[in-house]
Amino acid sequence: MSKRPYVLASAAMSLDGRLDDTSDTRLLLSSSADFTRVDRVRGSVDAILVGANTIRADNPRLLSASGPDPVKVTLTSTGNLDPDARFFTTGDAAKLVYAPTPLVPGLTERLPRATVADAGDPFDLHRMLADLAARGIGRLMVEGGERVHTMFFTEDVVDELHLVVAPLFVGDEHAPRFVGPGKYPQGRMLLAEVRQLEDVVLLRYLTGQAAKDHARLREAVALADNCPPSTTFRVGAIVTDADDRVLATGYSGETDPHDHAEEVALAKLGDDPGLATATIYSSLEPCSSRTSRPKSCTRHILEAGIPRIVFAWREPAVFVDCVGAETLRAAGREVIELPELADLVKHTNSHLPGVTAEPTS
Ligand SMILES: NC(=O)c1ccc[n+]([C@@H]2O[C@H](COP(=O)([O-])OP(=O)(O)OC[C@H]3O[C@@H](n4cnc5c(N)ncnc54)[C@H](OP(=O)(O)O)[C@@H]3O)[C@@H](O)[C@H]2O)c1
Ligand SMILES: [Zn+2]
Repeated sequence: MSKRPYVLASAAMSLDGRLDDTSDTRLLLSSSADFTRVDRVRGSVDAILVGANTIRADNPRLLSASGPDPVKVTLTSTGNLDPDARFFTTGDAAKLVYAPTPLVPGLTERLPRATVADAGDPFDLHRMLADLAARGIGRLMVEGGERVHTMFFTEDVVDELHLVVAPLFVGDEHAPRFVGPGKYPQGRMLLAEVRQLEDVVLLRYLTGQAAKDHARLREAVALADNCPPSTTFRVGAIVTDADDRVLATGYSGETDPHDHAEEVALAKLGDDPGLATATIYSSLEPCSSRTSRPKSCTRHILEAGIPRIVFAWREPAVFVDCVGAETLRAAGREVIELPELADLVKHTNSHLPGVTAEPTS
């Protein structure tokens, strides 16, 4: 299976499941507190994708006030896109337009601010996602509309869903739905969070592998409670095999005050053949340089040959600047960040200078 970004689908819908009405103006579904939340999510992803029809209907900027400008991505087969739409004219990051082969003649010239990329014939979503991963996109937020959400869910490439329900009806059968008819993956999603934001409700769901990752990472975070009192990071780590069986666990200071959680877990495994298909879960981003010992956890993970790394909290620059995630990604490893668990990790590390945990729900 080719590598793809972590995909977070996001939508706001009415009580009757509609994304909009059919008028020329955009229907306001979210509350202002929810707009603030969406802005933060946009600031935490590498790229945002919407369908060409959403650009035509809403002319969205797709920027974030709380993070670096995300790369913007759209898909089209007609090529009917206005080069002066805000999608193209706002933000400093790249704009990507995926279209099936053969490309609409002249599309590249007509959209000078964008890179037009080939998505295969017929349009191949998996190929597009592999291409995004190759361009360094680790987290992709998909903001709709109906046709785009339907395609992502029926192709079973969504890891997380943020669904906001607004307390109103649209009642128009021609209004776009959250998703249309199709063959969807079977089984129930994991309900990870329910949050009230003024008069709307956010439902946060995880699917398949993301639900497993979330559960395992939570266990790794809890392992850090075993760390002896320490002035450095309190971290927990778990290594699992391809079937999600635990191969080893570790926590900071487990056998020696200088121990890091990941190196403790890896030291228990030696050159276990299961490492070639394993996942390491760590509550903190693996360190890329350290003051206590010469070899970083990033180096240990690279040498162990572990292909998948899942962590919660990006290492803050308390002791040294960490580039663990970037280094692992550059070496072709799959790196998944689950920032929704970061507050739990901060809570365990609130003894460190400058670390304050937001109240956890
Ligand atoms: N409430 C919310 O959270 C939310 C969020 C986003 C959008 N919306 C609403 O949703 C509505 C738009 O939804 P929609 O379903 O009409 O449109 P959409 O999903 O935004 O875009 C559909 C368009 O994307 C392109 N596309 C999609 N799949 C493709 C494929 N496999 N190959 C090639 N091109 C593909 C096509 O563009 P071409 O036609 O150019 O070929 C298609 O017409 C708007 O009313 C918008 O306001 C609401
Ligand atoms: Zn380390």
